[in-house]
Amino acid sequence: MFGDVYAGRRVFVTGHTGFKGSWLTLWLLDLGADVTGYSLGPPTEPNLFDAAKIGTVEAKRPMGAGRFTDLRADVRERRALGKALEMAAPEIVFHLAAQPLVRRSSAEPHLTYETNVMGTVNVLEEVRALAASGRGPRAVVNVTSDKCYENLETGHAYVEGDPLGGFDPYSSSKGCSELVTAAYRRSFFGESGMPRVATARAGNVIGGGDWGEDRILPDCARALSAGQPIEVRNPGAVRPWQHALESLSGYLCLGASLLRDAGETGDEPNGFDGAWNFGPGSDAALAVREVVELFLEAWGGGEWRPAPGAAQQPHEAGLLVLDAGKAARELGWRATWSVTDAINATARWYAEFYRGAEPEALLALCRGDIAAYCDAAAGSGAAWAASEVSA
Ligand SMILES: NC(=O)c1ccc[n+]([C@@H]2O[C@H](COP(=O)([O-])OP(=O)(O)OC[C@H]3O[C@@H](n4cnc5c(N)ncnc54)[C@H](O)[C@@H]3O)[C@@H](O)[C@H]2O)c1
Repeated sequence: MFGDVYAGRRVFVTGHTGFKGSWLTLWLLDLGADVTGYSLGPPTEPNLFDAAKIGTVEAKRPMGAGRFTDLRADVRERRALGKALEMAAPEIVFHLAAQPLVRRSSAEPHLTYETNVMGTVNVLEEVRALAASGRGPRAVVNVTSDKCYENLETGHAYVEGDPLGGFDPYSSSKGCSELVTAAYRRSFFGESGMPRVATARAGNVIGGGDWGEDRILPDCARALSAGQPIEVRNPGAVRPWQHALESLSGYLCLGASLLRDAGETGDEPNGFDGAWNFGPGSDAALAVREVVELFLEAWGGGEWRPAPGAAQQPHEAGLLVLDAGKAARELGWRATWSVTDAINATARWYAEFYRGAEPEALLALCRGDIAAYCDAAAGSGAAWAASEVSA
């Protein structure tokens, strides 16, 4: 998959102990990359990183195992970040570390902006310093969110050139992170030989191993495993649904294209260094109620009811749909799994976890999901899955 672009590459992942970071780290190690993770500890208990013992995975290589370096530090600490980048000397950086919760952003806006905006500044500033000494990475993928757009609630599908905004501090911090990245790209990274810097915008994702606050499928699994009905806060709210592997395949595909673009020859950038939407297919917008019912079907029983006080929930932005046409045309990426595929995989993962599966079994389940996802992507004609991307 991805040709052999990641095999033997030095990759730096911030936020590697988080939900998406854990899946990404595992996928990269299985692609043969040497991964350095830089992050605070896992944000929840339980969490995927510990549950599947991602920290013990070694990179898969034909000629012996590769390296995984697990650094625990703060993206707000620029010096520590700079030292870690210098030590790891990555060829590519995936920046995922963030305070990713909308509700928490309203309770702790300062922390959210400090982490999500100054964290991005710190990553780009340290990459700039390394690049100036000729030891910079060739590419950076900054993971933001579909919430970075000014959501006008008109129902139109957002394209990359639409205005940025964000109602709550989390959404606006991701809009800011986009603006910071664009300014660094234009001011410092536009020349040949400099790192190619891109941003990736995807919506809420689901998948095994997420225990983030206010996320409906972890709530479902927790309630059902305790033999209780699921309490649903916003049963009528319609949202897009996408498996984590969907957005991660987009990040990896984008990273592979950036690496190819930033060849050793120092060619001029040819357009991969910009913003990219990785949205689900058009059938992916479902009401929370429908998703809960699909989850119950996949779980094999149980029931749900509206949560007490469901009507007094804080402001929630209306449905925001991403247009992922640019990624399809220029990267050959497309959404692959149906909502049902994504929910079935997620329910299977949580069922195993709550049945008391060992870490090795959970890791095998993750690898099984990645393999099934790649097979489906290859079957659906996704260019990256057909190994057309090469360094
Ligand atoms: N999960 C989603 O549905 C979703 C949707 C769109 C975008 N995103 C983005 O994807 C990224 C990962 O999200 P996630 O769901 O895996 O979140 P998560 O909460 O599971 O993981 C966040 C990671 O960031 C780390 N982190 C937080 N503050 C830090 C700091 N100050 N210094 C260093 N590390 C820090 C945590 O330790 C953790 O490893 C985030 O940037 C998020 O905004 C997530």
